[in-house]
Amino acid sequence: MGHPVLRQVARDLTPVEIKSPELKRLVQDMIQTMEEYGGIGLAAPQIHESIQLAIIGYEDESERYPDMGSQPLSVFINPKITVLDETLQGFWEGCLSVPELRGFVERPRKIRVDYLDLQGKAQSVTAEGFLATVFQHELDHLAGKLFLDRIRDTTKLSFTEEYAKYIAPQHEETGEEELED
Ligand code: NI
Repeated sequence: MGHPVLRQVARDLTPVEIKSPELKRLVQDMIQTMEEYGGIGLAAPQIHESIQLAIIGYEDESERYPDMGSQPLSVFINPKITVLDETLQGFWEGCLSVPELRGFVERPRKIRVDYLDLQGKAQSVTAEGFLATVFQHELDHLAGKLFLDRIRDTTKLSFTEEYAKYIAPQHEETGEEELED
């Protein structure tokens, strides 16, 4: 946070760029970075590339978060979000670009994402619940926004350490979930 690239609107990728070996290498770098940090998503501006590219992927952690589901690792190029249900749902979010913080963010519960895959083919996916929030967090990065901008109640902003100590234990009872990209 503080690097100007995180506040820029990322530019679209061209068909030629999408098919280039450089882009395939960049995606591999992003996957490696995401896995190193144990994240569930990563947007290109987070590795200082101001382009419309994000990856999302996570395994079901069913014991702790029964409703989280899983998402196979996928690449999203030039994605556009359409809100399908404006009803807000909240999750505690964290971000590789905003280390050591957790904040409670409310976002629309159901969305559609239209995007290009790594082959440049047009795709569309509908997401609700946790995955809808993950998409919105990642695609916000492509619009120069961070989850901090979305926090309405700053009393629900915490350091990771205090979050783990005071806030997370309450979730075990309420079933609230947590996201960190
Ligand atoms: Ni993030």
